[in-house]
Amino acid sequence: MRILVTGGAGYIGSVSVEAFLAAGHDVTVLDDLSTGHRAAVAEGATLEVGTYADSRAVAQLLERRQIDAVLHCAAKSLVGESMVDPAKYFRENVGGGIGLLEGMRLAGVKRIVLSSTAATYGMPERTPILETDPVRPINAYGESKRCVEAAITWYGHGYGFRSVILRYFNAAGASRLFGEQHAPETHLIPAVLIAAEESREMTIYGDDYPTADGTCVRDYIHVEDLAAAHLLALVATDAGDPRTGPTSGPCQPVICNLGNGNGFSNREIVAAAETIVGHAIPVKIGPRRAGDPAVLVASAERAGRELGWHPRQGNLENVIGSAWEWRRNHPSGYAD
Ligand SMILES: NC(=O)c1ccc[n+]([C@@H]2O[C@H](COP(=O)([O-])OP(=O)(O)OC[C@H]3O[C@@H](n4cnc5c(N)ncnc54)[C@H](O)[C@@H]3O)[C@@H](O)[C@H]2O)c1
Repeated sequence: MRILVTGGAGYIGSVSVEAFLAAGHDVTVLDDLSTGHRAAVAEGATLEVGTYADSRAVAQLLERRQIDAVLHCAAKSLVGESMVDPAKYFRENVGGGIGLLEGMRLAGVKRIVLSSTAATYGMPERTPILETDPVRPINAYGESKRCVEAAITWYGHGYGFRSVILRYFNAAGASRLFGEQHAPETHLIPAVLIAAEESREMTIYGDDYPTADGTCVRDYIHVEDLAAAHLLALVATDAGDPRTGPTSGPCQPVICNLGNGNGFSNREIVAAAETIVGHAIPVKIGPRRAGDPAVLVASAERAGRELGWHPRQGNLENVIGSAWEWRRNHPSGYAD
């Protein structure tokens, strides 16, 4: 396949690009480098620096590179920022997302896999969360993703776009070459590892949740398992594949959660990280953050059934260990 990866210079995108190249695909990355890194684009991929929001430029790129299918990984994804600056999220993720879809329509490329999120569910009523559960985001980030999901659904109905929408839970871990480097770092595992490196105190937000140890419980999915899911999803968008619709006429997205189905509390993450780094990581308890559900755990049963996807690196030792190894091998992070 000839694949376009938007956001291929970012954390999840970079590991996926590496996996697609290893599987023999031709990969073009479209990234504006706003939160990504030039050095995170694997050798062998073609990097085009620019925005996916520009329909005409996207259409030209798709035609020039003869792209078959798009993995739309790029987005703004800071929950807190989305609450104080929602316009950015509607402009970038929603407006930009429509720009991308229009570029695809202009070029006649109708296969897309979307990086969506558990944040679309908001405060879940039960756990593990099923794809059929209500989608009621409680932050502008989750809402912006829900809007893109809706646009893709209607482009399927009206124009025959074939799509897979993947709702990730917490991505974590690293490949040997590519890992997570965000500024600010809002994700728990890299934040714990940074605290370990810098011998600083780590803040856990709230220890009075209705969970076994009072701290929030999340489902961590290894970034290489996500990459494998992306490839299976891209294959499912093939014109002859009945999972994403008939050969002509309206198509419906396949929507799948991606998680391990296991929850780990914040305290369990810190304890596991202490074992891996070999020393104690001091923790202080801060106030709860608005909009943090107590437990977010996926049922990924549908991804297994529909895509044949089964996470292989679910244990915490792999997830945290690979992130730690990447940090140790890249002590200054990416060069740019
Ligand atoms: N990291 C997680 O735990 C997680 C969980 C659920 C969903 N997601 C989703 O997965 C995707 C990737 O997340 P990530 O953690 O790798 O983020 P990231 O910030 O590391 O990567 C996003 C990439 O998109 C690029 N980008 C942003 N706006 C762009 C634009 N207008 N045009 C071109 N490129 C642009 C950035 O430069 C960056 O390289 C996002 O869509 C995010 O919403 C991530």
